[in-house]
Amino acid sequence: MTDLIIAPSILAADFSKIREEVTDVLEAGADWVHLDVMDGHFVPNISFGPVVIEKLRPLTDAVFDTHLMIAPCDPYLEAFAKAGSDIITIHAEAGPHSHRSLQAIKALGKKAGVAINPATPVSILEHLVDLTDLILVMSVNPGFGGQKFIADAAGKVAQVKALIGERPIDIEVDGGITPDTAPLVTQAGANVLVAGSAIYDGGGRASYARNIEAIRAAV
Ligand code: DX5
Ligand code: ZN
Repeated sequence: MTDLIIAPSILAADFSKIREEVTDVLEAGADWVHLDVMDGHFVPNISFGPVVIEKLRPLTDAVFDTHLMIAPCDPYLEAFAKAGSDIITIHAEAGPHSHRSLQAIKALGKKAGVAINPATPVSILEHLVDLTDLILVMSVNPGFGGQKFIADAAGKVAQVKALIGERPIDIEVDGGITPDTAPLVTQAGANVLVAGSAIYDGGGRASYARNIEAIRAAV
């Protein structure tokens, strides 16, 4: 397996001290920062937009992994690129022209990701795969942190792995990842794990380090 990448979702952080929450989790051993953007339309919750990402950007050189749960996404891609995202992931279900959205992300000089909801078959990715740097398999219905892992995701990861073949594409899983569920998806081929509640549990750098280590040790 390629090296495991741990990408904490700051959705589970304490937003009243978000600077600390980001630097603490990185010092605790996280690799990427996963930024969950929700619009109250594509998903039934609202989180934050490019202004917050722009303010966090100077804190670190770590990869900013922006997960756009918004529809439409195209009008906002440039703002998320300018805010300092390194990877911009759109949802395949967010509009009829995901191919165009991925082209637009590439044209902005960013890595392009595509996410699929639990109800969406892997086959939707067949004609997008050559435009992607990352495929995100959702293991919960997006919108909220702290939901239960949907086990079907592991089978979908294996299908994605077969689809990408030798292409250098990251396979990310997001939702309900814990030390118990992480091995199910890494064994199927995932190399990037997003976790919110399981990492931000307990509060403070020492807890985050323990939580990250527990996931790494489990896979
Ligand atoms: C779900 C988000 C996830 C979520 C993960 O809509 O995309 O990133 O915050 O949270 P946990 O790890 O708590 O399931
Ligand atoms: Zn996410």
